[in-house]
Amino acid sequence: MNQLVFILNTISINLQIPSTSIWDDPMVLFYTVVGFIFISAVLILVVASFLLQVLRQLTKEASIEAARQKGVEWKEEPSLWSKLMEWSNRSVPLEKEETVMLDHNYDGIRELDNFLPPWWKWLFYATIIWGGVYLAAYHLTDTLPLQTAEYEQEVSLADAQQKLLKASITGPVIDETNVEQTSDPVALADGKSTYTSICSSCHRMDGGGDIGPNLTDDYWKHGGDIRSVYAVVSKGVTGTNMIAWGTSLSPEKIRNVSSYLFSLRGTNPPNAKKPEGELFKPQAAQDSGAVKTVVP
Ligand code: HEC
Repeated sequence: MNQLVFILNTISINLQIPSTSIWDDPMVLFYTVVGFIFISAVLILVVASFLLQVLRQLTKEASIEAARQKGVEWKEEPSLWSKLMEWSNRSVPLEKEETVMLDHNYDGIRELDNFLPPWWKWLFYATIIWGGVYLAAYHLTDTLPLQTAEYEQEVSLADAQQKLLKASITGPVIDETNVEQTSDPVALADGKSTYTSICSSCHRMDGGGDIGPNLTDDYWKHGGDIRSVYAVVSKGVTGTNMIAWGTSLSPEKIRNVSSYLFSLRGTNPPNAKKPEGELFKPQAAQDSGAVKTVVP
């Protein structure tokens, strides 16, 4: 089964175009179809057993009628099921127990030498057969993968999917060397929500600064252009409370929140923290094309 799923997976990643809808994942479709077949099978079984019951009842009535007409006494035939139950629990009947009674007598307690219940005995044989099949399939012929092999299959599959996903992302991935400030309202709204939920606890809701520096003035410890801000947010400042948000926020989200910070500039909120760092002159930074790297 695993092997089958793996083969299906391998086929599917070749067809797969990464998308947001779960229905585009062929595995979801596969499990849905299998689930549907399973439910249909159960329903068919239920209906069939019901019809069988009806049929049994009708034959029973017919045979009672036939016996009545012949004037003989009607005896119920044991059902297949009751025959099976009797066979699987068979043991020496009570009347014949004397024949299997052992000679020992432990202070009045005697022991019967009954045989094992057939259901138990056959189950035991079945486990032996299963053990043989398992040994052959997993260890002798390598038809099915062992845990390690299965794990490696999964990992290589995930690698292939990741490559596919990366290839499908159009344009270069955003980082501190190529990030551009965005003015897209949706992106800025996203930046604002990130800022409110994460950053405001240290930089204050209005950006005036608390544990972290004032983000509304023109003084910056690590540079005030978009790329420097992106770098600080993404990589953090070692040894300070400003951690590397790049591990928990996507490049887009960092771009968005960094861009949002620009809208706080020059807002002069009351009781803001006093300026820290150097006066940042936007033009100069642009002219030199310098991207200040973060020095811890
Ligand atoms: C736990 C507190 C804390 C949180 C949360 C925090 N920061 Fe900071 N941040 C700091 C501290 C402290 C510094 C100063 C680091 C230093 O001394 O260089 C800093 C520095 C900065 C700087 C550089 C300021 C400068 O002067 O160069 C930026 C930009 C910044 N944070 C943005 C953010 C953003 C965006 C978030 C949310 C994703 C955030 N911070 C979340 C504490 C925090």
